[in-house]
Amino acid sequence: MPDNPQGVARHVAIIMDGNGRWAKRRGLPRAIGHKRGVEAVRTLVRSLEGTGIECLTLYAFSSENWKRPEEEVSDLMNLMRNFIRTDLEEFVKNRVRLKIVGDWRALDADIVAMLEDALERTAHGTHTVAVALNYGSQQEIAQAAQAAAREGEITPDAIERHLFTADLPPVDLLIRTSGEVRLSNFLLWQMAYAEMIFVETLWPDFTPEHLKAALSDFAKRERRYGGR
Ligand code: FPP
Repeated sequence: MPDNPQGVARHVAIIMDGNGRWAKRRGLPRAIGHKRGVEAVRTLVRSLEGTGIECLTLYAFSSENWKRPEEEVSDLMNLMRNFIRTDLEEFVKNRVRLKIVGDWRALDADIVAMLEDALERTAHGTHTVAVALNYGSQQEIAQAAQAAAREGEITPDAIERHLFTADLPPVDLLIRTSGEVRLSNFLLWQMAYAEMIFVETLWPDFTPEHLKAALSDFAKRERRYGGR
């Protein structure tokens, strides 16, 4: 059973929602909202030191996001390419280990190659930033259950060993921005005992101060994991 006596969130997961609305309110194209969303990611990753967070998992592109217009999908993929180009060195320097969760090998070949290189170069980082790309939690659990079945018994431990997150602690805290209150097929297994915080802030406006406020709210919560 996960244990967190000091009230420290080791693993924080974020559903970064509201880029489109942020842009719409300013009469700007959605692409600009996503671009500002990436800037919010960059600032947040820079602020992780000293928070106690060992892993930050960000929902960047779900397996359902392919339903968006082709132009928006292509904008998001280009942002990903640019992000790796501009930020990889900083990840390496700051000892951030990049991890990708999801069926990312199905993305365009050049992105796959860039990600493979980025994973290799950041492999020795001390804290993890996991980016969910082409990710769907139900698909992940079904695949893990199939793999467990091939090995023998389908137990919770066996399933867990086959999740993308097998090497990560369970999610302690989920934050979703923009006022939406749902999980959208994100880390359903991993969040079995997670605390959840939903904030009205739109993702491009989310700052390290918002994260600190969420962590301090988390620290006050009493987690019982089904006990009393
Ligand atoms: C939700 O806002 C946001 C997304 C579907 C994309 C999130 C992606 C980023 C912030 C870029 C991530 C990039 C890196 C490099 C990690 P929405 O478009 O659904 O907003 P809306 O609900 O207001 O329309």
